[in-house]
Amino acid sequence: MTISTASATGATGLPETDELTARIAGGLPGDFVWGAATSSYQIEGATGEDGRGPCIWDTFARTRGKTRDGESGDLAVGHYHRYREDVALMAELGLGAYRFSVAWPRVVPTGSGPVNPAGLAFYDRLVDELLGSGIDPWLTLYHWDLPQPLQDLGGWANRETAYRFAEYADHVATALGDRVKHWSTLNEPWCSAFEGHLTGRHAPGVQSAHAAVRSVHHLLLAHALGVEALRARGVSDIGITLNLIPVESPEDSPAARDAVRLVDGQSIRLWLDPLLRGSYPPDVVADFAKAGAELPIADGDLARIAAPIDWVGVNYYSPHIVVSGPDPDPTPMPFVAADNLTRVKSTEDVTALDWPIRPRSFAALLRRLAADYPGTPWYMHENGAAYLDEPAPDGSVPDPGRLRYVALHLDAVREVIQDGVDMRGYFVWSLLDNYEWAEGYKMRFGVIHVDFDTLVRTPKTSALWYSRLIREHRAANGTL
Ligand code: FCB
Repeated sequence: MTISTASATGATGLPETDELTARIAGGLPGDFVWGAATSSYQIEGATGEDGRGPCIWDTFARTRGKTRDGESGDLAVGHYHRYREDVALMAELGLGAYRFSVAWPRVVPTGSGPVNPAGLAFYDRLVDELLGSGIDPWLTLYHWDLPQPLQDLGGWANRETAYRFAEYADHVATALGDRVKHWSTLNEPWCSAFEGHLTGRHAPGVQSAHAAVRSVHHLLLAHALGVEALRARGVSDIGITLNLIPVESPEDSPAARDAVRLVDGQSIRLWLDPLLRGSYPPDVVADFAKAGAELPIADGDLARIAAPIDWVGVNYYSPHIVVSGPDPDPTPMPFVAADNLTRVKSTEDVTALDWPIRPRSFAALLRRLAADYPGTPWYMHENGAAYLDEPAPDGSVPDPGRLRYVALHLDAVREVIQDGVDMRGYFVWSLLDNYEWAEGYKMRFGVIHVDFDTLVRTPKTSALWYSRLIREHRAANGTL
């Protein structure tokens, strides 16, 4: 397979793309990590194979009305059987790193019982394939596919789930710790807690402030116990991946400032404060109390949660935009005690999911993180854009909107690094078009197009551009 990068920058809507590409390539540090990200449930398929147990997303997708057209990850993009082809594509593109997640229900099908060697063997093969192709594996232990039997015992609202997570982390580290160097415990626990347990838009589809707040603490505890399990197996490069969504308001009033405070508290400080400062933010605890919800902190938990980690992975797509006043939109709010805030929907410069494209907000977020949590190395673990890409008659897949999005956000990364932010790498979301959770298969995030009928993969224009950028960066640093 040969990928030509010659015509990668046509029709981007960015007349200055070449200049921008050169600026990014020349402006990033020589050891900057170039990657792409995926997650198990979104790409693997093969949900009934080799002893995999059911997970909460299998159950949720089968529940009427929960996902677009009832779509599930049953088949997804067949990565379980096509991983060799996918790794070959990554190698062709010149990726240095690949962020993937391990499916807990493949490794421990009942959540707490014996290990399933056939499930672990898949990741063993994948890791060897990556290493053999010169690609550094970045492993995420939990990207939302909780074994259903654990949900039946209360899921993340139950403290015991954190202990089961640590056992699972130990099994994976025992099998792969000799070859995988970079480990993330959890992906976006905010989504697990708030979308899974408050809005109910994600599995397990619970709608309860009480369950959401309990889940917050148990997810952080799971992270802590997972870190302990990994360290005990000699793993040395460990972090957590958080969606740190910045919040803005066009309104300047005390009520708007309070709305911003509330959203900022639950999106950012609720996670980074306990992890990096050893305590929960008091204003967020007070917001939870207003909703009758309490973090179930046991003695010693906070010290364990604040045990040193090696980096934080940041997922960023778009800011929240809010004003004060009760939201007339009846769709549930993903924040606790949010009765005096309204989400503003932007129509200007948005992706196909109507997510505003705001690279300035992104740069401001990164500067703020570096200022408020000094001494932390950061990686961009997810950044990307949804469009409804279609192949052109000549077989190419032009995606100028995504190329522009990624280029502008990478330029922001370059800019903040030059200002001293310790940002060490970038993983585009996503390597492949895939199952976008409750949105099903309509929204495409891949830099590689997947025909969902034939499963044929075709690198889009953005992938070719990304590949060219990586090569230019290496050439600029003498590492090509
Ligand atoms: C993030 C998820 C990832 C993907 C992107 C679009 O919230 O971590 O799985 O769905 O959004």
